[in-house]
Parts: sequence; structure tokens; C-alpha cells
Amino acid sequence: MPAAPLSPPFLYGTAWKEDRTASLTELALRAGFRGIDTANQRKHYFEAGVGEALAAAYRAGIATRKDLFLQTKFTYQRGQDQRLPYDPSAPLAVQVAQSLASSLEHLGTDYVDSFVLHGPSSGYGWLEPDAEVWEAMRNERDAGRARWIGVSNVAIEHLEQMQATGAEPPAFVQNRCFARSGWDRDVRAFCNTRKITYQGFSLLTANREVLEHPPFMDVAAKLNATLAQVVFNFARAIGMLPLTGTSSAEHMRQDLASLQLTLPAELARAIEAIAG
Ligand SMILES: NC(=O)c1ccc[n+]([C@@H]2O[C@H](COP(=O)([O-])OP(=O)(O)OC[C@H]3O[C@@H](n4cnc5c(N)ncnc54)[C@H](OP(=O)(O)O)[C@@H]3O)[C@@H](O)[C@H]2O)c1
Repeated sequence: MPAAPLSPPFLYGTAWKEDRTASLTELALRAGFRGIDTANQRKHYFEAGVGEALAAAYRAGIATRKDLFLQTKFTYQRGQDQRLPYDPSAPLAVQVAQSLASSLEHLGTDYVDSFVLHGPSSGYGWLEPDAEVWEAMRNERDAGRARWIGVSNVAIEHLEQMQATGAEPPAFVQNRCFARSGWDRDVRAFCNTRKITYQGFSLLTANREVLEHPPFMDVAAKLNATLAQVVFNFARAIGMLPLTGTSSAEHMRQDLASLQLTLPAELARAIEAIAG
């Protein structure tokens, strides 16, 4: 079984920031984030803005490339608008290579730490196009342009079918994490037994209905922490790599500080069992 990949304890997400992408990403790096999540999907991300922030951080001596964990994604045409980072008439393997080449240019680097398939071609299974894309992503990894490869927006069926085809398992799974599904219990269990790092996003926005009830409120009061801090600390406690995309300097500071809280194991278990 391969070892789980090394990654920082928190990822800063760069979606939906448009012309504030560079300044907010630089702020996150100054605040102490060392993991950055982006995608070559202009519809939701401005990857070149992330690259501007990286360049500014290197110039200011905040971090070097080696200190950082950079993650980007390949997005099928149906998840894109007209601003494509590849030729849509080219075979998928070529689209993957073109997308990553463009990401490396945006980010001013010759490798990313993680290259993720943004979502499978179908919500219902791991199909032939996905197998083709996955092989192309492996080739990019083997050529040294990505250290690890991963998948996003997957159901347990995708992972099981992927495994049944004999495909190499992903190093990362990045999913929206709903408390009502036991915090994505099935997918997390699949990941845990295979040393796949589970990355959770929308931990706050997907779970508003549970956050304002016990045990969250009780734990937050007991730890003198915010609800967001409890969620992020809980995520770490159950082995997740959380993402935050906050635009607030104060929330950046609080999110990083959440790593220092000590959530008793029985409280982590109570939160894990809160719903679903
Ligand atoms: N793979 C995918 O398909 C996919 C999909 C969605 C997202 N993502 C990734 O995940 C990242 C995070 O996205 P997200 O959906 O989790 O939402 P998010 O962008 O992190 O939004 C969180 C919301 O919660 C608010 N908030 C309040 N207190 C907060 C606190 N202490 N810390 C953080 N946020 C706080 C934020 O407001 P303030 O800004 O005022 O703090 C914001 O409105 C994205 O940027 C992207 O990189 C990936």
C-alpha cells in the first residue's frame, strides 16, 4: 500500500474570487496557508491570478515553491464556459496535457503537487472517457509534471468501478462534504482503507442546518471557539484535509488557529454521528 501523500493541514481554495484572486491568495499565503487549490476552469477560477500571488509571495520571501502544495484540476468541456484551456476537438489525452501545460504557465512552475479530475464524465459511473483522462493524468504524473493525481466530485460507485477496472487508485479525493451523509461516510471509509487523502469542501456552507445545534454549539462554547473552527478541527480529527475559501483576513487567521484546538475524541465521535 503506498504511503498517503504529504500535504499541508489546510488548503486555501481560490474559486469565485475573480479579480480579487491574486490579492486574496497572497493574503492567504501571508496568513500562513501553504496549500493552494485552484482549477484551469476560468468559469469559476482565475488561475493566472493565483500565479500572480505566488510570484508576489516568492518576491516578498514569504515562501518558496518547495514550501507550497499546489493543486489544480482538469475540467471536461461541459464544466467550462467558452474560455477553454485546450482544443476541444483534440483527443481527451491531448486536452489533459494542454490543460496542465496551461496551468503550469499560469502558476509559474514546472510541476504541480496534485492534479485532479474535476469530476467524472457521468454522475453514475466511471466510464471510458474517465479511464482515458485518468491514463493521460498518470502520464503527466510519470513525466514529472504532477506529483500526485486525484479525483473530485465522486460517489462511492465511481471509486468502486474505478477500482474494478484495475485503475491506479487516486492519491486524493476532493468532495463536497455533507453532514447528512455522515460527512461522506462511505467515500471516507473507502479512502481510509487505501491511504487516499480525503479533501472536504463546503464544510460550512453545505452544513448550515447542523452547525447551529448541539453538539456544535456546546463544543464551541467549551473550547471557546467559533463554529467554523470546530468544523475544521473536527475535519482534521477524523482524518480529512479541509478546504476554506474565505475572503476575510480574520477568518483566515481563525481557520488556521483551529488546527491548534484539541477536540476530545468523544466529541469528534458525537459530531461524526450527528446526522446521516
Ligand atoms: N472540486 C470542486 O468541484 C469544488 C467545488 C467547490 C469548491 N471547491 C474548492 O473549495 C474551496 C472552498 O469552497 P467552499 O465551497 O468550501 O466555500 P468557501 O468559498 O470556503 O465559502 C465559505 C463561506 O463561509 C463563510 N465563512 C464564515 N466564517 C468563515 C470562517 N471562519 N472560515 C471560512 N469561511 C467562513 C465565508 O465567508 P467569508 O469569505 O466572509 O469568510 C464564505 O461565504 C473553493 O475555493 C475551491 O477551491 C472545489
